[in-house]
Amino acid sequence: MDGASTCARAEARQGRGRRWLAALLPKSGPGSLGAAGKRLGRCMWPYRWALGGGVLSFFGAAALEPLAPALLQRLLDHGFGPQLGFPLWIVPVVVVGLFALRGLLSFCGTYLFAWSTSKGVLDLRRDLVRALVHADARLFASLSPGVAAARVINDPQNATASLSNALTTLLKDGTSFVALLGYLFYLNWRLALVSLVTAPLLGWVVQRVKQRVVMLGARSYESQVRLTGIVDDIARAWRVVRTFDAGDFEEARFAAEAQRFRHATVKSAAAAALMSPLTQLVASLGVALIITLALLDATRGGITVGEFAAFVTALLMTISPLRRLTDVTQPVITGLIVARACFELVDTPAEPDSGEREIDGVRQGIRLQALTVMHPGAEHPALADLDLDVPAGQTLALVGPSGGGKSTLVSTLLRFVTPSAGSVLIDGIDIADIRKASLRRQFAVVSQDIVLFDGTIEDNVAYAQPKDSARVERCLRAAHLWDFVQSLPEGMHTGVGTNGARLSGGQRQRLAIARALYKEAAVWVFDEATSALDSESERIVHRAIEEQRGSRTLILIAHRLSTVRRADRIVVLSEGRMVESGRHEELLAAGGLYAGMVRAQTLD
Ligand SMILES: Nc1ncnc2c1ncn2[C@@H]1O[C@H](COP(=O)(O)OP(=O)(O)OP(=O)(O)O)[C@@H](O)[C@H]1O
Ligand SMILES: [Mg+2]
Repeated sequence: MDGASTCARAEARQGRGRRWLAALLPKSGPGSLGAAGKRLGRCMWPYRWALGGGVLSFFGAAALEPLAPALLQRLLDHGFGPQLGFPLWIVPVVVVGLFALRGLLSFCGTYLFAWSTSKGVLDLRRDLVRALVHADARLFASLSPGVAAARVINDPQNATASLSNALTTLLKDGTSFVALLGYLFYLNWRLALVSLVTAPLLGWVVQRVKQRVVMLGARSYESQVRLTGIVDDIARAWRVVRTFDAGDFEEARFAAEAQRFRHATVKSAAAAALMSPLTQLVASLGVALIITLALLDATRGGITVGEFAAFVTALLMTISPLRRLTDVTQPVITGLIVARACFELVDTPAEPDSGEREIDGVRQGIRLQALTVMHPGAEHPALADLDLDVPAGQTLALVGPSGGGKSTLVSTLLRFVTPSAGSVLIDGIDIADIRKASLRRQFAVVSQDIVLFDGTIEDNVAYAQPKDSARVERCLRAAHLWDFVQSLPEGMHTGVGTNGARLSGGQRQRLAIARALYKEAAVWVFDEATSALDSESERIVHRAIEEQRGSRTLILIAHRLSTVRRADRIVVLSEGRMVESGRHEELLAAGGLYAGMVRAQTLD
């Protein structure tokens, strides 16, 4: 699968279609509803033939409708005489045939519609997930997991459903409206022209109501998104909610937002409901005008009673499809608002990657040169002018007070954070020149906040890699988790629950360690990876990690200093600066910050 978005490729293929689509939709700039409609149209463009087939089938089924009464009429006129005007067998054949054909057509219409829209929705969902997977980290500061899920799963379906329903109405009622209008002109073109004088007024009314529906619809959608965020919080932080006895608080917070959502929904429905009566009112002005004019004409003998009756009847008949056509506004607008939010997500800039070089392993080592990292919005640098050498195959321990910049250093190595000055070199190559995927492949990281996937233990260990049960077992043993896994009825095929909810804190950490070990990367980073383990387990895990010494570069971050004493080099980071560096014994002898920390811990 190449990188281009599915819809975008459809866009490139589509030539002429764009023009008539553009003509159909309101004029617009980027981010407007018209633009969203056009893009949705482009997503559906590859499936236009199926969609068109569906429309034709619907039309065909509708066209067969009058055949039933026509048949009845023929039967009545010719079937009940002393002599049958046609062979008897024709009757059941025609009746069943008619229903079979109509049923087939309506099935085809529904099927083709569902097939083509589901294809379009599938493409859009894949584009949305692609955008999520590649999005710049900043997106996740503003997008909660629940909202992201709703946007990928519900929104494309909702938008397409409301728009395709609207399209069907538009086609059906649009056709009958145009046909009736044609008939009016055929009957009396001058009167028909007069009936059009209300068109501009009608247009104006529709426009005004539409603006209000758009405004309220957008407000209602925003409120819905906030509501999703609250539910997301409640489900994710349910333990915190209960521990803080915040059930009432959350319920109230939800109720307030739900109330706002309801308000916005009712208001937008009310605005949309105004559309019908208002258009009918305007239409009645036209009808009144026509009747008056026609009566005037009739007194002068210009129009017969029959003509007049036919004209007024046809005129009144236009109101019904016109009403349904204007009722279509709200679903269309709601659909477009939802589609616009989807496309905003699709358009989220991907994580920039200027690097082009590929690396395969770390042979000489990692070097930080005058590295300064400033987090966005922070007042002080998280890392300041840091010089550090990590030769390949050695173990570096990072220790120091909380907030000292240890995790920031890891994020910088993986280029989740861009240095504001200085550079990081791997085997002499600036990591800015290395393709991010290639760079990250060299690292296996157990981060401070463990994230597990909803799957089995084996799925989590062999995450995104080919499964090798023997290797999974080795890694689980090394992470000192094997005994536990074996005690489970389903062993490594046991599900761990959402984010490992069925495991203990220490088990989650050990599973994350096993996952890192499985990756076989050149550099292993353990950021407080054993903080939740008892000291016996911690000792075992560390022994397993240390067995890899020499073949891998290790970066250990720990507050519990007993785990780092055998490191080749210990670096004490405080407020983003290296305040001490050396081996355990050297630092102890120096009697500085590290020695103080060790003393404090042994006193404990
Ligand atoms: N995304 C961020 N945006 C702004 N500031 C940040 C961000 N991440 C970290 N910081 C700040 O950078 C500094 C270093 O944070 P870092 O997470 O690197 O500390 P640490 O040494 O890992 O601490 P700990 O031992 O508590 O894990 C802190 O002052 C923190 O507030
Ligand atoms: Mg940290």
